[in-house]
Amino acid sequence: MACYTFFVKLFTLICLLNLSFASRRMLQNLVQDPQTQTLHYHKGSLLHGKISINLIWYGNFKPSQKAILSDFVTSLSSPSHSQPSVATWWKATEKYYHFTKSNPLSVHLGKQVHDENYSVGKTLTNDQIVQLASKGEAKNAINVVLTATDVAVDGFCVNRCGSHGSKSSVVEGKNDKFAYIWVGNSETQCPGYCAWPFHQPIYGPQSPPLVGPNNDVGLDGMVINLSGLLAGTATNPFGNGFYQGPSGAPLEAASACTGIYGNGAYPGYAGDLLVDSTSGSSYNAHGANGRKYLLPAIYDPSTSKCSTLV
Ligand SMILES: *[C@@H]1O[C@H](CO)[C@@H](O)[C@H](O)[C@H]1NC(C)=O
Ligand SMILES: *[C@@H]1O[C@H](CO)[C@@H](O)[C@H](O)[C@H]1NC(C)=O
Repeated sequence: MACYTFFVKLFTLICLLNLSFASRRMLQNLVQDPQTQTLHYHKGSLLHGKISINLIWYGNFKPSQKAILSDFVTSLSSPSHSQPSVATWWKATEKYYHFTKSNPLSVHLGKQVHDENYSVGKTLTNDQIVQLASKGEAKNAINVVLTATDVAVDGFCVNRCGSHGSKSSVVEGKNDKFAYIWVGNSETQCPGYCAWPFHQPIYGPQSPPLVGPNNDVGLDGMVINLSGLLAGTATNPFGNGFYQGPSGAPLEAASACTGIYGNGAYPGYAGDLLVDSTSGSSYNAHGANGRKYLLPAIYDPSTSKCSTLV
């Protein structure tokens, strides 16, 4: 009897999943991950509810550069008339919630803080990143620290282009926890490491660089890393969500699919992308304000494959 109930539940779940998948505009291609990763769920909560994404600009960025990134964040929750869209891409993270008790999150662009005078210098430790992230809100927030080209950050260009984590804080006797992300502008420090495929890779199979959809190697690269880290933050915010491998250096929703942007991707080839006929730029998602972006593949927990928009 218990077994029967179990199977009824299982089939109902499968039907529900199929329904909800079919009712959305689906990510079209499933690319078999060469390493056939499985991201395990570690039973912790995912980010849920209304979450504001606050941007903390550290150092020198042009207003036009800030607009590329803030428009990207706006695009996550504003369905574009053109498909494939950034909002459709972000919906891929919702699949993770079907395997948990958490309700999905809805994100919106929150406040922007401008620290243009390098208040804590130009060489930052991870603690200083967290300190800067604390300038955002303490609750229901992802605080994103964005460092300029002339800022060195612990591990930047050595083994990372950005990172994410969480921080508990006690505000008026209440325990709050916020998630944070840091992403650096790699344009002058290591574009071949952090801004591929918009720059020749430092090592590995060589391929000519693609023109970025916003014609800014640094910022187009930051969008790739920020989007991947946002997906990781939503699905593994406190280190006990979905990941594979050591908890200190986990493979997460997007990092499990590194280097895959379109159908047919292989090491050194980003995949078959859309190309803008006027600018020649490569992209795979439409966003707010007529923008275009290139976004990484997201691991699909229901198929154990990396799925792409094009
Ligand atoms: C940053 O420094 C410039 C030049 O010294 C100054 O004009 C500006 O007010 C400072 N900005 C902030 C936010 O302190
Ligand atoms: C950032 O993007 C680069 C590709 O441009 C990728 O190799 C790297 O793994 C990404 N890092 C993070 C932390 O997302």
